[in-house]
Amino acid sequence: MANKRQAWGTRLGIIMAVAGSAIGLGNLLRFPVQAASNGGGAFMIPYFVSLLLLGIPLMWVEWTLGRFGGGFGHGTAPGIFHNMWAKNRFIKYFGVIGIFGPLVIMVYYTYIESWTLAYSFFAMTGRYSSAATETAMQSFLRGFQGLERNSYFCNMAPAYVFFLVTFIANMAVTYYGIRGGIERLCKVAMPLLFLFGIIMMVRVLMLGTPDPSRPGWNLVNGLGFLWNPDFTALKSAKVWLAAAGQIFFTLSVGIGVILTYASYLSKGDDVVLSGLSAVGTNELIEVIIGGSIIIPAAFVFFGPGGVRDIAHSGAFNLGFVTMPLIFGKMALGQFFGCLWFMLLFLAGITSSVSLAQPAIAFLEDEFNITRKKAVSIFGVVLFVLCQAPIFLLGRGVVDELDFWGGTFCLVLFATVEVILFAWVFGMEKAWEEIHHGADMRVPGIYKFIIKYITPAFLIVILGFWLYQDGIPTILMKNVSAPDRQIVFATRFCLVAAFVTLAVLVKIAWMRKRKAKT
Ligand code: ALA
Repeated sequence: MANKRQAWGTRLGIIMAVAGSAIGLGNLLRFPVQAASNGGGAFMIPYFVSLLLLGIPLMWVEWTLGRFGGGFGHGTAPGIFHNMWAKNRFIKYFGVIGIFGPLVIMVYYTYIESWTLAYSFFAMTGRYSSAATETAMQSFLRGFQGLERNSYFCNMAPAYVFFLVTFIANMAVTYYGIRGGIERLCKVAMPLLFLFGIIMMVRVLMLGTPDPSRPGWNLVNGLGFLWNPDFTALKSAKVWLAAAGQIFFTLSVGIGVILTYASYLSKGDDVVLSGLSAVGTNELIEVIIGGSIIIPAAFVFFGPGGVRDIAHSGAFNLGFVTMPLIFGKMALGQFFGCLWFMLLFLAGITSSVSLAQPAIAFLEDEFNITRKKAVSIFGVVLFVLCQAPIFLLGRGVVDELDFWGGTFCLVLFATVEVILFAWVFGMEKAWEEIHHGADMRVPGIYKFIIKYITPAFLIVILGFWLYQDGIPTILMKNVSAPDRQIVFATRFCLVAAFVTLAVLVKIAWMRKRKAKT
């Protein structure tokens, strides 16, 4: 007897869940850093072009494919691709990327998410308040992560405890399923996330000129630092790639999670307006709230030179070193620090539960096992895999996982799915499929965009990325000699994981064939 597939409770529930998956650390940390270091206001031109030509069309494609697959009882790419191109025996193996990618991301994302929970606790209890300089705050972070023993931490037990709490929270949510777990979480977490985001934004916008001896270090100049356009940046291919990469990352397209979420819709449910609403919610949080917090705040306290260095040192440094220092200089800093890290935690957990869902749905749909059993199997595997980024942090493991799971697989998967959708399935049929139950029509120009522009754009990005990052990463150019073996072992494990998933697909299809005869 087949498992009855789960379903969303309400339309608002799925929109919140998809928006929750999209809104994550990428909106609040990655976006402002990318914008500030790639031409400021001018970055928004390639950003919006990528949103219109990649983000929105891929969002519609994934919602439509997911709902289509769900109609056949498949919530993940192997089954969905197989149903779209039944004559091709191999296409289902391309679909493995849509389970592998989110699993790989989740392996490191969960640990990073646990830092946000830990730091909200540290902020509330004043645990890091004695670290008053950048060096001291770096030391605090390194001590917490187990990268050094110092006066702040003598072992990594606190980090491990927060990891366990975060891991269990994620598994508990998925254990209760789509409606009872994910939808329920997002209905509470998303309004809270908005509220916390608005409070943080208003607090930063009220900063004015905190140090009267430096009148230039004020909020207006801080916003100007982020938004004043440097149009020369538009000539750089790197800036265009950064903008396209940000759109992928922030919208969670190309990962495989939206396919799975949409597979719990029914045929008559709208995907056009719902998909667009999820995109709109994500952009609101990213551009308005994400753009108004960390860079302007860092500017008023550290000035233009300081913020430039901070932006170049990356999003993590900004989030876990600079922001705690800023809260230390603010009135009610403990409260706002706690709020900031809770905001990051809420953004993180609503994204990580979505990363878990493809693998769980695969076990449920293709092996016909119960959700609780599927979550248990997934939980054990994930727990074992998570030990690598925890205990080998700083040894190249996270970068390796992020490159393959969080960058390369996304673009490759998106390219495969859009070609399948527009060219194999056929644009006429695809157009009809998008509009089943639709509450609005997709502008006709998107027929052309989805068929020609989006695939061409993706192929160009894939080529550029391979050239710019792929070849040096494959050749381990940026890995130090002592870390090479570890990175090599990580790569070996990634290949083993991919092959295992492909074998599982083969077994599932063989069992189905046997059951039919
Ligand atoms: N879309 C998620 C983020 O922005 C992964 O963090």
